[in-house]
Amino acid sequence: MQRNKLDDRMELFGTADTSSIKDNLCAVFHKAIGAAYPDIVDPPVIVTTSSNPKFGDYQCNSAMPLAQQLSSFGKSTKQTPRDVAKEIMSKLKVFSVVEKYEIAGAGFINVYLKREFGQSVLRSWLWAGQVLPPYVKKKRVIVDFSSPNIAKEMHVGHLRSTIIGDSIARLLEYLGHDVLRLNHVGDWGTQFGMLIAHLRDKFPNYLTHAPPIQDLQTFYKESKTRFDEDKEFKKRAYECVVKLQAFEPDITKAWKMICDVSRQEFEKVYARLDIKLIERGESFYQRHMESIVAELELKNMLEEDNGRKVMWGEKHGSGIPLTIVKSDGGFTYDTSDMAAIKHRVEQERADWLIYVTDAGQSLHFQMLESCAKRAGILKSFHRMDHVGFGVVLGEDKKKFKTRSGDTVKLSELLDEGLKRALQKLKEKERDKVLSKDQLKAAQESVAYGCIKYADLLHNRNHEYVFSFDKMLEDKGNTAVYLLYALTRIRSIARTANITKDELRQRLHEIPISLEHEKEWKLAKVLLKFPDIILGINEDLYLHPLCEFCYEISCAFMEFYDKCYCVEKNQSGEIVKVNIGRLLLAEATALVLEKCFSLLGLKPVAQM
Ligand code: ARG
Repeated sequence: MQRNKLDDRMELFGTADTSSIKDNLCAVFHKAIGAAYPDIVDPPVIVTTSSNPKFGDYQCNSAMPLAQQLSSFGKSTKQTPRDVAKEIMSKLKVFSVVEKYEIAGAGFINVYLKREFGQSVLRSWLWAGQVLPPYVKKKRVIVDFSSPNIAKEMHVGHLRSTIIGDSIARLLEYLGHDVLRLNHVGDWGTQFGMLIAHLRDKFPNYLTHAPPIQDLQTFYKESKTRFDEDKEFKKRAYECVVKLQAFEPDITKAWKMICDVSRQEFEKVYARLDIKLIERGESFYQRHMESIVAELELKNMLEEDNGRKVMWGEKHGSGIPLTIVKSDGGFTYDTSDMAAIKHRVEQERADWLIYVTDAGQSLHFQMLESCAKRAGILKSFHRMDHVGFGVVLGEDKKKFKTRSGDTVKLSELLDEGLKRALQKLKEKERDKVLSKDQLKAAQESVAYGCIKYADLLHNRNHEYVFSFDKMLEDKGNTAVYLLYALTRIRSIARTANITKDELRQRLHEIPISLEHEKEWKLAKVLLKFPDIILGINEDLYLHPLCEFCYEISCAFMEFYDKCYCVEKNQSGEIVKVNIGRLLLAEATALVLEKCFSLLGLKPVAQM
C-alpha cells in the first residue's frame, strides 16, 4: 500500500493536527465547568485570546457570568467570581496543549500554551510541506460572485465582489468544501430588446459580418436614447424581447453577439486577476423561470399588485415583496433569483449558498431567502449568506469616479496599477537587480496584489477609499510590505545555502527553536492560523486574515532582529547556521504563503 504524507506525519508526530486551539480549550473548560457545577444547564464557556502576554496566551472568562448566575439561584453561601474560578481550576484535567493555568484579577483563568505542543504542530506543517487545513464538516457550497451586467461596464462594485468572492471560494476550497463558483451575469431582460433592435437597424448584415460594437457602452447609450424618444423603435424593441424569449434563431444570434463582446472584456479582467469562475447568467434560468412561476402560482403564493404578481416572504407585509411577474408579463431579477435558488438547491444539491454583492442588495437577499423558505425550497439545514460590502470611494471621499465624472473602467484601473507598481519598483531600484522577466512578475504581483489586499483588509461592511498611494506604501499593513516580508524570509535559507528538502530532512534531528522569547512569540502567532480560518468559515469576514498576515510579519521582524539565523564573520563568510531557527523561519513562510494564496496574492521569488 502506498503511504501518504499524512501517514508519515502521524507516525512521526503523533496526534498533532491542525485543529483549533480555541475549540479545544472550550471543550476542556466546558468539561471542567460541567464537573464543578452540574446543576447549571448550558453554562457560559467563554475563551478568548489574551490581549496582553501578562495574562497568558488564552483566557477563560466564564467565572464572572457563572458567579452571577449562581447568585441569582439564591444559594445561601455567595461565591465570588474568584471562588468560582478556583472551583473550575480544581476540575481542570491535564491537557497536552497547556503548560499551566493561573487565576488572575477578578476571576480570569489564564492559559499558557506548552512549547512541545507548538513544536509538534509546526513540525507537522514542515513535514507535510504545507499548512494543513483544520477539520470542518464538508458542504456543497455555491459562491455567486462578480456577476457583472452585459452591455454595461464592469465597475468597481463588481471588482469588490470579484475579489471578495474569489477569496471566500479559495478559503472554502482549501477547507475541503465542494465549491461551485458561479458568475450570475445580467444577460437577460428588457434592455436586450432595445440593444438587439438597434443592432439590427445599424448593422443589418450582422449575421454574416461581425459588427464593430467594441464600444458597447456607447452602443447601449444610443439604443437607450432611441428607446426613450422613438415610440416606433420602442415597439420594435419589445417585439425583440418577445422573440428572444421564444429563442428565435436570428434574434438569439444577435443576443449572443452582444454578450460575447462584454464577455471578452470580463474575461480579460479575470485572467489578469487570476479569477476562475463559471458563467451561468440569468438567461440560463429562462425555462426555470417559467416553471417556478407556475409552481408558485399553483401553491397560491403569488398576489396581484397593480397588475404585477408579487410574493411575500414568511412574514406577510414585512420588507418588500419580490416581483415575480411584471405587469407586461415579463420576468425580473427577482424571478431569475427564485429560479436560480431552486436550481442550485435541487439540481446542484448545494447546502450552502453564498451571494457576494454590494450591501444595497441586502433586502433583496433577505426577501429571497424568506420566499425560498416559504416555498419549501430552502430547508432548515440549508445555509444562505448574503456577503454584502460597502461602496468604493475616491480619495475625495466621494463615489469613485474619473475626473470627468464617468465610472472608472476596470481595465484602465488595472493598467494604472501596473504603471504605479513599476514606478514603485524603480524607486527602489529593483530594475537594476532584477531581470526583465523578474521585474515584470514583481510588477504584476505588486499591482494586482495591492488592489486585492487593500479591498480585503477592510471590514467589508464599511465603504473604503481607493488610493493607489496608500496601497503601494511599503510600510504598514499593505501587500507590498507583506510580499517583501515573505521574500526576505525566503532569502534567509537561500543565504545559508539550504534547500527546502534539506531543511525538511533536518527535522528528524533538530528541534524547531522555540526557547527564545521572540521565537516562542512568533510560533504562538502561527498557531492561531486554524482559529483564524475557522472564524472565516463561520462569518465570511476576510479582514482578520489580513490582520493576521501583518501580525506574523511583525512578529517575524522582532524575532529576526533578536535571533541570529545565519552568522557571518567580518569578511562575510558564513560561520554558523542555526537550523532550529531556519525551521521556524520556514514554518513562518509556509503560513504566510498559505494566507497569500487564500487572499489571491501571488508572491514572487525575487522582488
Ligand atoms: N448582476 C447583479 C448586479 O450587477 C448582481 C447579481 C448577483 N447575483 C444574484 N444571484 N443576484 O448587481
